Amino acid sequence: MKKFYITTPIYYPSDNLHIGHTYTTVAADTLKRFKRAQGYDAYLVTGSDEHGQKILQKAQENGMKPKEYIDGIVEDIKKLWRMLDISYDEFIRTTDEAHERSVQKVFEKLYEQGDIYKSKYEGLYCTPCEAFWAESQLDDGKCPDCGRDVHLTDEEAYFFRLSKYRDRIIELYKNNPEFVQPDSRRNEMLNNFLKEGLEDLCVSRTSFDWGIRVPFDSKHIVYVWIDALLCYITALGYGSKDDSKFKKYWPADVHLVGKEIVRFHTIIWPAVLMALDIELPKKVFGHGWILFEEDKMSKSKGNVIYPEPLIELYGIDAFKYFLLREFSFGRDGSFSREKFLQRLNSDLANDLGNLVSRTITMVEKYNEGLLPSPDKEEEIDKSLIKIAIDAAKKVEDNMDRLNYSQALEEIWKLIRRTNKYIDETTPWILIKEDKDRLNTVLYNLVESIRIVSILINPFMENTSKLILDQLGLEPEVNWEDAKEWGLMKAGVKVKRGDVLFPRLDIEKELVRHNEANEKLIEERLERQRRKEKESVEEQFITIDDFAKIKFKVAEVVEAKEHPKADKLLILQLKVGNERRQVVAGIKKYYKPEELVGKKVVIVANLKPIKLRGEESNGMILAAEKDGELTLLSTLEDIDSGAIIS
Ligand code: MSP
Repeated sequence: MKKFYITTPIYYPSDNLHIGHTYTTVAADTLKRFKRAQGYDAYLVTGSDEHGQKILQKAQENGMKPKEYIDGIVEDIKKLWRMLDISYDEFIRTTDEAHERSVQKVFEKLYEQGDIYKSKYEGLYCTPCEAFWAESQLDDGKCPDCGRDVHLTDEEAYFFRLSKYRDRIIELYKNNPEFVQPDSRRNEMLNNFLKEGLEDLCVSRTSFDWGIRVPFDSKHIVYVWIDALLCYITALGYGSKDDSKFKKYWPADVHLVGKEIVRFHTIIWPAVLMALDIELPKKVFGHGWILFEEDKMSKSKGNVIYPEPLIELYGIDAFKYFLLREFSFGRDGSFSREKFLQRLNSDLANDLGNLVSRTITMVEKYNEGLLPSPDKEEEIDKSLIKIAIDAAKKVEDNMDRLNYSQALEEIWKLIRRTNKYIDETTPWILIKEDKDRLNTVLYNLVESIRIVSILINPFMENTSKLILDQLGLEPEVNWEDAKEWGLMKAGVKVKRGDVLFPRLDIEKELVRHNEANEKLIEERLERQRRKEKESVEEQFITIDDFAKIKFKVAEVVEAKEHPKADKLLILQLKVGNERRQVVAGIKKYYKPEELVGKKVVIVANLKPIKLRGEESNGMILAAEKDGELTLLSTLEDIDSGAIIS
């Protein structure tokens, strides 16, 4: 059996997955089902990308250890995938031990062969995106991906020789245009990144420690993108004792990713694989974004559309159908609930639902529910048959190009044609005038619906099964049967089932959806509040604990920049009669001269340490939120040395 290996990205654990996030996974799952129907041994990997500063910060905000914080969220993600009936074969977590070991082995191998080397990094870093940017790549001085502030970091780090692979990557694109799809994304990579030359990539961090340790230098952790990309092979057992799946399924037939992460998958990933001498994936497809009324969905904008209420109210099939039919896979599209409901009414209730119920009703009414044998074929029958048996090939062609929307449109052409066939052949007149002709018409209608039920199976399995059941057929489908006419056996008993898709009153549904969405948001807020409360309670300290810390008021008498560090200021403080030096990471927020004469609050009994060679004897307190910082002081002026209790 031929294999077909598909991956979704390895998701950041977020308790806020919206319909945009489900897009890649729904598309990947549908492709897997489609390939499986075609007889492939299709394998689908998804997972969670759990390391990095952003997650560490989130966990700390929740007063939790990172792993403990993530575990709950990963369960929620899996729950969502279960709700959507995603048929993944492996859910890889970057915190899986086997993955961590394999990543370490890869890092070591690349270091030993000289593809990774140690140097010093000075660059602009975007914390939320975990990405370094060159000055020229910034958008108005901000991160070109998320639009937030970047900051200068300077650290000793390991580098991957990405520059060495530039020519081979350009060559790869040239010889194999399928490697990056759609074409526009390939051109973007060539023009925006490859043309100017590639810089070596910083692949380790020392500023935080939530990640996989560099095995031979434990101060460093592996850059999250190297960690995450390797999931595509570690999920198959690469680097472990049992790598039989890797041997069986690699190379990936397609990595499905959103457009913002194409760069990582089509430049960094192939270069790493080249360095490891591993075969390259066959294709990376960068799909567009689902926006909300032209805007990016985000919790802070309050325009997030969650998948759960839509699935609960309208079912998985309607949800998946809309995502794949409405948006052209390579391009951005805008979600609106009105469009969603209109499509449900027109394509699902009117076209598909009506066709099935009209046909079954007629067979029941005119022939006691038994499928009649067809009589002789007329011209109009021939045209219907041709559209029906050609449809599978058209779906295949479109699915080969991951053109989900057009693939579904081809199926709907057949559905609409069959509905029209009813109007043209008028069975309600034939019952009175021409029973033989009626038999042919009824047979053709049922046969056409049989083909439709096979064609929609990879996209909407539940609906496909419900239709097959109404036609008295087994729930399993064989894709090739969609290419053949006349497989229905006369005499089969058909039976009417529940309405597949009821017609919806759009105004009423908008209200219902709003209520469901708000209920979900409220439940999530409530859960968050509960968590925060629990974490505060867990963190209670006793009065004795508190008494151990000596807070005092201090006056800044002198302040200067640290000669060896970007972020630090060296302050001379007067604390009553005592003088002491404190080093503080506040250079980004205060100029040294602004601080002289200010009264601040310090922790006075902190064990002294050296920061970049300068002694720091105590800690200045500051309040921080959303990138803003201010030093603490007292409400009224008071002499330095005052004790705070
Ligand atoms: N962790 C990285 C991927 C590492 S892969 C080695 C990541 N994770 S993510 O959770 O942010 O994104 C997961 C997927 O959701 C990506 O394909 C991303 O493009 C997709 N989407 C997130 N929001 C989206 C929309 N609004 N619309 C369509 N897809 C978008 O990136």
